[in-house]
Amino acid sequence: MPRHNPDISSFVTYQHRSSAPIGRWVCIAAILIVLIAAHWWSPVETHQWHVVHLLLRKLFFLPVVLAAIWFGLWRALFVAGFISVYYVPHIVLQWQGQYTENINQLGELGTVWLTAILAGTFAQREMRALRDIAETHQGVLIALVSALDAREHDTQLHSLRVSQFSLRLADELRMDAASMGVLGEAALLHDVGKIGVPDEILLKPGSLSEEEWGKMREHPAIGRRILKSISRLEDAAEVVYAHHEHYDGSGYPRGLNGQYIPLGARVFAVVDAFDAIISNRPYERAMKLADARKRIEAASGSHFDPRVVEAFLNVPDEDWIELSRKIEALDRSRAVDDRSGSPE
Ligand SMILES: [Fe+2]
Repeated sequence: MPRHNPDISSFVTYQHRSSAPIGRWVCIAAILIVLIAAHWWSPVETHQWHVVHLLLRKLFFLPVVLAAIWFGLWRALFVAGFISVYYVPHIVLQWQGQYTENINQLGELGTVWLTAILAGTFAQREMRALRDIAETHQGVLIALVSALDAREHDTQLHSLRVSQFSLRLADELRMDAASMGVLGEAALLHDVGKIGVPDEILLKPGSLSEEEWGKMREHPAIGRRILKSISRLEDAAEVVYAHHEHYDGSGYPRGLNGQYIPLGARVFAVVDAFDAIISNRPYERAMKLADARKRIEAASGSHFDPRVVEAFLNVPDEDWIELSRKIEALDRSRAVDDRSGSPE
């Protein structure tokens, strides 16, 4: 029976509002239009203009290379095909009977196709290698969260939820893609430092003594130390270090306030509290959301950055519900997967 098991790594990332592929196609189309128009209208009679005409012809490899780098082999071949549709009639009709010129120009067209094949193949390999590295990196992050989840159950689901929530809120704040990547990773790994907190404190059912709280409060620094050892996670380590700071300076471990707290940590603080409120209330989801909104608004300027709270309040309830459902679906499919994979 086919198993529906959504890839967990897809929950670490977020569909950013980026329109990059469209922008890139527009760029390729613009270059093609300019080249074709300039090539078509540049006169061939006078010697100087003929040089320009010839130079323009040599530039037809440029959109092919761009298509290869941005989209891979098949799109590069598509662009080469498009160029051929323009180029072949140009050779046959405009240079009728001039066989040497026909061969010369067909040779140039062949170079365009060769460029498409070579650049497309290499770019495709490069893309695959980068994807493999990214997947391995995400696998390492998930493994770190799973290690903590093995000790403190449900940590992984909470981490996945706050990671998705953080990215949704960051999107509302129009944070750039790089900062969003750092935030997504930091949110996922925010409590990884709890690996260094002894079991008798981490799993204690009752309230903690002052000394035990002291140990517990070391987890942001431990988390930072763990993540600093991975060079790609250095920025995320700083967000993790600051994830329990409060906007008014009453948080820990350093008592940072306002803009001294990294923006990612200020965003994370809101969604962490939000997830705790909506996850621990036994009543209806809509009531939970309304309650959460009120409580977060009430802590604006004290626990939370007012600008982040304002953005949070602008996110419609449906978005939070949809993200929560996505994570719940992941949990259900993993439970089925675990049962089917466990020994009889
Ligand atoms: Fe924490």
